[in-house]
Amino acid sequence: MAKYIIKGGIRLDGKTEAESAKNAVLPLLAASVLTDGEVVIRNCPPILDVESMIRILRELGVKVRFEGKDLIVNSSSMHGYTIPYNLSKEMRSSVFMLGALISRFKIAEASYPGGCDIGLRPIDLHLHGLEQMGVKVDEAGGEIVCRAEKLKGGNIYFDFPSVGATENIILAAATAEGRTIIHNAAKEPEVEDLQNFLNSMGARVAGAGTSVITVDGVKKLHGTEYKPLFDRIEAGTYLVAAAATGGSVEISNCNAEKISALLHKLCENTCKITIKNDIIYLRSGSGRKSFNIETLPYPGFPTDMQAQMVALASVSEGISVIRENIFETRFKHVRELNRMGANIVVKDRVAIVNGVKELHGAKVAAHDLRGGAALMIAGLNARGTTVIEDVKHVERGYYKPEEKFRSLGADFVRV
Ligand code: UD1
Repeated sequence: MAKYIIKGGIRLDGKTEAESAKNAVLPLLAASVLTDGEVVIRNCPPILDVESMIRILRELGVKVRFEGKDLIVNSSSMHGYTIPYNLSKEMRSSVFMLGALISRFKIAEASYPGGCDIGLRPIDLHLHGLEQMGVKVDEAGGEIVCRAEKLKGGNIYFDFPSVGATENIILAAATAEGRTIIHNAAKEPEVEDLQNFLNSMGARVAGAGTSVITVDGVKKLHGTEYKPLFDRIEAGTYLVAAAATGGSVEISNCNAEKISALLHKLCENTCKITIKNDIIYLRSGSGRKSFNIETLPYPGFPTDMQAQMVALASVSEGISVIRENIFETRFKHVRELNRMGANIVVKDRVAIVNGVKELHGAKVAAHDLRGGAALMIAGLNARGTTVIEDVKHVERGYYKPEEKFRSLGADFVRV
C-alpha cells in the first residue's frame, strides 16, 4: 500500500494549478447518463473517486474513456440500473446514480452508499425528495429499490440544505414531467456547476446558488462539452499548506469568490492574499495567529477545509476554537496531529487547539480524505520525517499531491 514520506520544515514557494472539482465532476458524471449523446468533460482529474464512478458507469453499460485529461462518456448502449454492492459502498457519490437512473429507466437499485467515515451520513433527504416526485422507495437489508410509473415535478422542502440531496433531485427533475421546486436547497458552487452543465445539455434549471431551485422538465437532453468548476478544496489545501510552512504560492484556475470564507481566515492568520484574474497569490505574514471557525453550509466556512485548518491552527500562536457543525465525527485527524506534537483537545463537536511553534515528524495514518490532507500539511511543517499511511483516502480526491508539493519545493515522495 502506498504511503507518503515528507521531510518537513521547508517553506513552500512556487506555482501550481487547481484541478476540476471532485465534488463537481462526480454529479456531472451521473448527469451524463441522462442523454444518449456524447458528453465530454474537459480536464477531469483521474482521482480514485472518479475511477470508482467510471467503474459504476461501465458496469451499467456506459462507454467511458479518457482522451488525455478529457473524459468522454457515451450512454447510448446503457442497459443496467443496479449498482452492485461493492461499488456502492466504495463511494458516497454512488447515491447520485439513483436520481439519474430513475430518470432514465424509471427503476434504480443500489446499496446504502459508503464514502468517508465522518458521521452518520443518512440519505433520507434524497429518498424523501424522490418520493415527492412519485417514486416508490423500498428499503430492506441495506438495499434500496426505487420505482416510478412516471416522474413528476413537485414542491420539495429540505430540512437541511444537503448538497447531495439537492443534486440528486435536480438530476431526477431534469427530464421529469412539469416543474420541480426545491426549497432550502444547498447553495454550494458545485450545485451551480451541475445546473450549468445540465443547461448546456438542453435542461431548464434555474436558481442554483440560491436556496430555491426551479427545474422545468424537458423531454430530451443532448450531448455537451463542458469544463467543470475548479476544485476550491484542493486549491484551499495548497494555500493552507503554504501558510503552515511560512511560504508563498500562486494557484491558477481559481475563482477566489468561491473560497472567500477561507481567504478571510487566512488573512486573520496574517497571510497576505492578492487576486488577479484566475490566480490567487498567498504570501505568509510574520508569525501565524490563532483563529476561530464554525463550519456551515455555503457560503459559510466549508467542512471540507476544517481538518486542514486544524493543522494550521496547531502551529499558530494562541488558542483556536474550531466547531464542526456538518458532520458528527469529523475529528479523526486530531489524534494523528497530536502524535506529531500538536496540542488539541476535542469536546463533542469542538476542537480547542493550543498552537505550538512547530510539529515533529511521526508515523501517522489517514482515516479520511480531508483528514489525510491535514496530515500532509502537518508533515510539511514538521521538523524531521513524517510517514503517512493509508493514503488511498487522500488519493480519492487529490491528483498527484506528491508532484504538486514537489513543484512547490517540498521534500515529498510517494512510495
Ligand atoms: C457533500 C460532499 C462532501 C462535503 C459535503 C459538505 C459530495 C460527493 N460530497 O457531501 O465532500 O463534505 O457535501 O460540503 O459532493 N444529511 C442527512 N440526510 C440526507 C443527506 C444529508 O441528514 O439525506 C446530513 C448529513 O448527515 C450531514 C449534512 O446533512 O450532517 C450535510 O450533508 P450533505 O450536504 O448531504 O453532504 P454530502 O452531500 O454527503
